[in-house]
Amino acid sequence: MTTSIDEPAADPRLLELCARGLGKTFDDHCVLKNVDLDIRRGEILAIVGTSGCGKTVLLHMLLGLLPPTAGAIEVADHELPGAPLIDLVHAKQDSVYEVRLSWAVVFQHNALFGDTVYENCALWLREHTKLKESAIREQVRACLEAVKLDVDDVIDKQRDELSGGMAKRVAVARALAADPLVVFYDEPTTGLDPVNAAHVHDLIWNTHHSQRADGSTRTTVVVTHDKDLLRRLHPRVLLLHDAGVCFDGTYDEFLASPLEPVRAYLAEMPGLHARPQ
Ligand SMILES: Nc1ncnc2c1ncn2[C@@H]1O[C@H](COP(=O)(O)OP(=O)(O)OP(=O)(O)O)[C@@H](O)[C@H]1O
Ligand SMILES: [Mg+2]
Repeated sequence: MTTSIDEPAADPRLLELCARGLGKTFDDHCVLKNVDLDIRRGEILAIVGTSGCGKTVLLHMLLGLLPPTAGAIEVADHELPGAPLIDLVHAKQDSVYEVRLSWAVVFQHNALFGDTVYENCALWLREHTKLKESAIREQVRACLEAVKLDVDDVIDKQRDELSGGMAKRVAVARALAADPLVVFYDEPTTGLDPVNAAHVHDLIWNTHHSQRADGSTRTTVVVTHDKDLLRRLHPRVLLLHDAGVCFDGTYDEFLASPLEPVRAYLAEMPGLHARPQ
């Protein structure tokens, strides 16, 4: 299965996000062009591709953090009845802010702010819920436990006192503390040892399938080079190559695809995952 450009558009009521003709150019460097992408409610989507092909750039455009040079992005606004799609790039900042409140992101380089682990994980809960500080502390501890950190050891540590693997797990814990509707992970297991990577695999899977407080279904988008994570998640896979979408299909179709860029990427994948951050 190749790109779905010629297929009929999916039912917008079932979409969490819809991008059309998306492009990004930095000066004269065209990173992405003409990317069409539907993210369906409740699915796990993996975005893969060689280093530098534009995965993080794409993710940041989908998050509204980086303006596209071309194209449109629409996202489901769950604050409105029927969760209609609204324009992410041109909508009023207030409505996009509301949409983003139900999203969580694990950034490639974690993006922890310069404070303690506790403050990093508590901030969202303090600002966007009515929980008392004691309940926030309990929830933060539970999230740190879920990523298999030694809670008493790390909770009061400063960001800069964390190892790379600890910081990655704090970033995952922080994202999940907000009980997000849509979770975006950019390389959530790079730099983790196999045991901790396996915990994060389970956590991503379990979080995706866990019930939200209001009963709504979560959607997961993950950028990864981790073949074990792909095997665990069996996601829909989208391969970026040559500035565009080269493959879009199920995990099994991806493994069996005869397309040359897919074969080359699968051969290269373990080395990409092992690279230092
Ligand atoms: N702010 C920027 N200004 C100029 N060029 C940029 C900027 N951000 C990204 N790029 C370029 O865009 C291209 C894609 O970068 P991106 O970070 O999306 O790669 P990636 O696929 O996520 O790679 P990796 O697997 O190594 O994380 C690279 O050539 C990068 O240098
Ligand atoms: Mg990246």
